[in-house]
Amino acid sequence: MNNYIRLTYASTTTSKPATIRQDLVAILNEAQMHNSNHDIYGVLFYGNNYFFQCIEGKKLEIDSLYEKLLKDTRHKEIVLLSYEPINKLRFMGWNMKYVLQEPAILEFFESNHWEKFNPYALDEDLIDPFLNILSSHNESTPGEREEVMAPEAVRGNVLNYRYAVFVIIIALLMLVGIYLFSSFGGAASIQGMTVQ
Ligand SMILES: Cc1cc2nc3c(=O)[nH]c(=O)nc-3n(C[C@H](O)[C@H](O)[C@H](O)COP(=O)(O)O)c2cc1C
Repeated sequence: MNNYIRLTYASTTTSKPATIRQDLVAILNEAQMHNSNHDIYGVLFYGNNYFFQCIEGKKLEIDSLYEKLLKDTRHKEIVLLSYEPINKLRFMGWNMKYVLQEPAILEFFESNHWEKFNPYALDEDLIDPFLNILSSHNESTPGEREEVMAPEAVRGNVLNYRYAVFVIIIALLMLVGIYLFSSFGGAASIQGMTVQ
């Protein structure tokens, strides 16, 4: 018998959209360094302001990491989803694999009647299929800012962009108006002078 444990939990980020990317990079660096020294393996998924993490390793190591995770203020509403003894490490080779929102993952949630990724919705029947998707999926890096930005932030950017386009169009219309007014208004006053 081995004493490996697989623990999964859901949590919500406390990071602001502007800092989530750098926070993710810092979390992954800490995780990969600590985990490789303590034979801990797993996967971290971030999307829609939520984290889903699976950690696997020796019971003592997993328990002590989970204690630290519970105290980490970079996330909140931490809910333990599963804690089970295992025979085989599913994420062996990844001290902390990182996966971003991908069509296969969104489809998985949609097919289970959830519009968006929501790790709190993962009951014990869904955790295993979800881990299968994550383990077969390519690893991501917290690269492009948009990739990791919260949907609100992306929406905010779209709104700012639309606002800028709107202001430019109004400014152009005003310039055209001034031009037309000065051309026709000027011509009319010249005509008026001629008539007089
Ligand atoms: C979502 C999330 C996932 C994390 N995953 C890990 C992890 O897998 N391994 C790890 O060592 N730290 C991880 N951390 C960081 C730990 O909570 C903690 O900050 C780190 O282990 C350093 O703790 P220490 O300063 O008490 O040693 C994670 C933090 C967050 C917010």
